Amino acid sequence: MLREMKTFNLGWLLFAAVLLISALPFSQASRSKQHKVKTGVFRSPQFVLGPGSVANKLFSNIDFPKGHIALKSFDAEVVDESGNPIPLYDTYLHHWLVLKFYVRKGLENQDISKLNNSDYISGRNSGICQDGALDQFFGLGSETRRTKTRIPDPYGIEIGNPTKIPSGFVETWGLNVHAIDTRGVEDRTGCTECRCNLYNVTKEEDGTPLSPNYDGGLSCCYDGTKCRLKDGFIGIERNLYLQYTVKWIDMNSLIVPVNIYIFDVSDTWKKSRNSTGINSEHNCQVEYQVESCRATGSANDKCIDAKSVSLEMPFGGYLVYGVAHQHAGGTGSALYGKDGRSLCSSIPIYGTGEEAGNENGYIVGMSTCYPKPGTKKISKGETLILESNYSSIKQHTGVMGLFYILVAETLA
Ligand SMILES: *[C@@H]1O[C@H](CO)[C@@H](O)[C@H](O)[C@H]1NC(C)=O
Ligand SMILES: *[C@@H]1O[C@H](CO)[C@@H](O)[C@H](O)[C@H]1NC(C)=O
Ligand SMILES: *[C@@H]1O[C@H](CO)[C@@H](O)[C@H](O)[C@H]1NC(C)=O
Ligand SMILES: *[C@@H]1O[C@H](CO)[C@@H](O)[C@H](O)[C@H]1NC(C)=O
Repeated sequence: MLREMKTFNLGWLLFAAVLLISALPFSQASRSKQHKVKTGVFRSPQFVLGPGSVANKLFSNIDFPKGHIALKSFDAEVVDESGNPIPLYDTYLHHWLVLKFYVRKGLENQDISKLNNSDYISGRNSGICQDGALDQFFGLGSETRRTKTRIPDPYGIEIGNPTKIPSGFVETWGLNVHAIDTRGVEDRTGCTECRCNLYNVTKEEDGTPLSPNYDGGLSCCYDGTKCRLKDGFIGIERNLYLQYTVKWIDMNSLIVPVNIYIFDVSDTWKKSRNSTGINSEHNCQVEYQVESCRATGSANDKCIDAKSVSLEMPFGGYLVYGVAHQHAGGTGSALYGKDGRSLCSSIPIYGTGEEAGNENGYIVGMSTCYPKPGTKKISKGETLILESNYSSIKQHTGVMGLFYILVAETLA
């Protein structure tokens, strides 16, 4: 009886909804159709992790929405074969990056890292780091479950524009996933901070000896390395996936495209002059080290490592969205205009529990900025200041201070 009642009610609800939709004025109905947001849930190829092990994979030609479209959001998390979310204290998600590549027709199913230089072109974001550094369209780390990636209407990231794809090439998407299995390790924080001693690593992946001042970071936790386990710990290998949810709209004239810029607080850029004029040569280090305030003798009552960089903008426009990327220990990051006005500040959200998305002590989200349209204008040539703060009560290795913004050249 109860079930029948439910069906009955649902029937009425549907009927009422149909009435409501057919009562909408035509223009509005067609507009909402034009703006119909589509959703796709995809999974990366599998990666296998046992206790202490590291996977840093670049997957080529991943499943991705096709056609001339505008991306509206990109959310991700690590899951097992049954789709169960894996908490960060089991599998620490160091980062994932979504990269665009133009690949010569016929080679799109090949492994990008094995292609000849002439057979692919990196379709990187709008800058400003040097080529090969921070080229991604989307990318986050441990904070992925609770960081908003939604791009507000009427904006979107335009992709698949046939007039922008070099002839003879196809647009494909690559996914870099860097994950560390910290089940049974001796020092969870040390493993997630990629401390070289815990990985017993003294050389980079390509064999170059590490500088003695390098205590930890990406160079010590490359694919296939292993973080030290507690004596006698035994655990099974797991098959894992990055599951990602993409939202998009078919491209249409009402969508205002946005450009992606990623800034790095460790960008040691300089100006250089050659026959074409003055150029900015960027050198984004991507990561840096925070020394403990006791070790540096800079112990004040705050013990905050405040790092900042001034960056000249080669573009202008209106800020639509902003978010920072920091690692555990981060206390906040902000972007300021030349006159000191705040453009966006992004603060870490630390987990306080056990469940996936709220793991105690991990950064499980970053706050985001959605400025009122037109209120945050960046002028071409303006020097912005990027600030990234960390607690320096303890040393932190391999930390990051990135800032990701979306900028529209015109307002809607
Ligand atoms: C790359 O180029 C070399 C020499 O031109 C060629 O022998 C090789 O087959 C190419 N590799 C791929 C994957 O296309
Ligand atoms: C650490 O690396 C050295 C040299 O590569 C090797 O001899 C040693 O056995 C390794 N130690 C452990 C615990 O893996
Ligand atoms: C001048 O430097 C810029 C940036 O480094 C470079 O792209 C350009 O090709 C250089 N021009 C000449 C003529 O060397
Ligand atoms: C960073 O720390 C400095 C010095 O304590 C402080 O003035 C600044 O407001 C902080 N910035 C952020 C974004 O937390």
